[in-house]
Amino acid sequence: MAKRPRLLLWLSLAGISAFERCGDANNNCYKWSLEGRCTNSSEDSVRAYCPFSCGVCMPHSCSAEKADEDFCNADLESHDEEHGGMHCSFWHHLPTRGRIDVYFLHEEEVLVGSLEPNSVFGVKTYEDHVFRLRDAGSQDLLATVRMFRTRIVLIIDEDFMESLKDCVDLPHETWQGSCDDWAPEGQCVPNPGFMTVYCSRSCYACHLRQEETRCTRRFLQMNQEPALRPGDLEQVFRDMNERSKKYSTAMRVLSQSPWIVTFDDIISEEEMAELLASTKVFNQSRDQGEANAFGMQEGIISSKRTSQTAWCQDTCKELPSYIAVINRIAEIVQVPSENFESMQFLKYHVGERYVEHHDMNNEKDNDFACGPRIYTFFLYLSDVEEGGETHFTQLNLSVKPRKGSGLLWPSVLSENPTVQDERTMHEAKPVLRGMKMAANVWVHLYDFSTPNHWACTGGGR
Ligand SMILES: *[C@@H]1O[C@H](CO)[C@@H](O)[C@H](O)[C@H]1NC(C)=O
Ligand SMILES: *[C@@H]1O[C@H](CO)[C@@H](O)[C@H](O)[C@H]1NC(C)=O
Ligand SMILES: *[C@@H]1O[C@H](CO)[C@@H](O)[C@H](O)[C@H]1NC(C)=O
Repeated sequence: MAKRPRLLLWLSLAGISAFERCGDANNNCYKWSLEGRCTNSSEDSVRAYCPFSCGVCMPHSCSAEKADEDFCNADLESHDEEHGGMHCSFWHHLPTRGRIDVYFLHEEEVLVGSLEPNSVFGVKTYEDHVFRLRDAGSQDLLATVRMFRTRIVLIIDEDFMESLKDCVDLPHETWQGSCDDWAPEGQCVPNPGFMTVYCSRSCYACHLRQEETRCTRRFLQMNQEPALRPGDLEQVFRDMNERSKKYSTAMRVLSQSPWIVTFDDIISEEEMAELLASTKVFNQSRDQGEANAFGMQEGIISSKRTSQTAWCQDTCKELPSYIAVINRIAEIVQVPSENFESMQFLKYHVGERYVEHHDMNNEKDNDFACGPRIYTFFLYLSDVEEGGETHFTQLNLSVKPRKGSGLLWPSVLSENPTVQDERTMHEAKPVLRGMKMAANVWVHLYDFSTPNHWACTGGGR
């Protein structure tokens, strides 16, 4: 069994070519497999002709001289989901249509089955495979869809048809990039969020354009429990001093209701240097704008926030310092790091500030798959000669930047972690002398990385 993942990885990476080498030799294979003919011992030829549908890919290679043992011994029947194999069902709920034919698109269309109205048709398939639906009578093309791991049930109803209407790639004038190049290169599956939004048509992902479809926890297969249950937050802070001792020289409690704490020396000089060296480009801060027709929010230059920001991305996220700091914070707040947004670096010059605001926008944050921000862990990466304090306006509590220290506060109430704690409104006071370098680590109630991968967390967040 231990050898199995390698094999299936090969299968899924090979994608279409795996299908080619392990393809069904008869168009009725799917139908036969559904009729149970793959396992009928008096019909061996079905397995031989239909290795793909019967889940016994490449039987020939197993009988060949250079048989791949791993491959032949693998339990392909179960289609390891982790490596892209999956079982997908098409549900026909279009009252105005008769039978619908389902084709696998592979250079030419291969009929794999038919759907009577109000029936279900299941296929074993792999992520990235493309299927076509045609009216069985007229052969009119109804839809072309790509398989994504998170979309294993396709309900073909009026809403589904509506979602395909007027579906185009994002017009070229509005961005730099090429769906014509990127989709054939295979970018649709590894970058599903970006590619679904920008290249819906080229990726055959028109049915996933709308956030209401694409961004539910159910669609994203997020089974994770929320990071906080009512009352947990209080307990997390009560136990925090003990947990933080191995990382910080002192935890200081500035307030207990709401909890606001600081940590001395939570990040080392070397870590700060490594992180800051990785982020050379700082841009004017942006707020979130309205979502456009493609379900993508535009960033708008912020008037409330005059600082400059940069996100820790790509190679920055692989730095040992980054990983160490994130794991440290994850342990202190007792939330898995998947729930964290990427670290955001901040730079405030003299006169720059961020007016009073809250890090949880409003109750609507609960509609996002990642839920609201529950904590902000703010890292001071420089001292500031004068000004630049983090000021909690409702509490009249100011925290002076101190290089290497951290400041932690909750955005939600302990008794109900979906409700904003208004008491943690805060502002960044203008820098009066010197420069302020800092970083935000925002922690969400649910996994942030999965919805982020699917462009489901709003625009500039
Ligand atoms: C197996 O195949 C034989 C020959 O086609 C057929 O007579 C028999 O009914 C099948 N058995 C099952 C359980 O489908
Ligand atoms: C930041 O600014 C640089 C230079 O102006 C630009 O090339 C880059 O795309 C910007 N990055 C973001 C995330 O806006
Ligand atoms: C806020 O705190 C400062 C310093 O601790 C104090 O001087 C000031 O009077 C307080 N303001 C209010 C409105 O309580």
